[in-house]
Amino acid sequence: MEPDKLIQWLNWFYSLEQSQVELYATQAKSAEDPYLAQALERFADIEQDHVDNIAAFIKNLGGKPTSLGDVVAPIVGKTLGTLLNLSNVNLMLKINIVLENKAMSDYKDLIKKVETNSELSSVLWANLLDEDLHSCWMERRLEKMEGELNRPVGEEEDSIGRKRKKV
Ligand SMILES: [Fe+2]
Ligand SMILES: [Fe+2]
Repeated sequence: MEPDKLIQWLNWFYSLEQSQVELYATQAKSAEDPYLAQALERFADIEQDHVDNIAAFIKNLGGKPTSLGDVVAPIVGKTLGTLLNLSNVNLMLKINIVLENKAMSDYKDLIKKVETNSELSSVLWANLLDEDLHSCWMERRLEKMEGELNRPVGEEEDSIGRKRKKV
């Protein structure tokens, strides 16, 4: 692939990853459940590693890491600013999963195009697997929340699974 074209691809990931850092860091601050807050904080750190590893590659190619603006709006139909203010945890997780899935499908596309570049390929694979883990965790969290809706009235479970009477 032409270096210019590759830099363009990498800037796209750079922009998406930056948005996810901001999103997860903000969501972590407002999450009421401590387990969810810790998970989102951890995701934000991992997305920051992705920002850094993509930025390093852009620089290696002689480019300058450049944000392409609000890249989440075309994917989910809501601006990043709107997403930062979402208070509905269920909807928040669903949108996060859409963004993770978009990142995964684009990482897969780029991996196919740069097979001969083993250094870049291994970074893209590592990022792809991290996104897969984030997406799986959030899917499971959603399922759990939906299960909680069906739990008998008067009973609840805290974030490490202790059953409690609801007060
Ligand atoms: Fe990422
Ligand atoms: Fe991710």
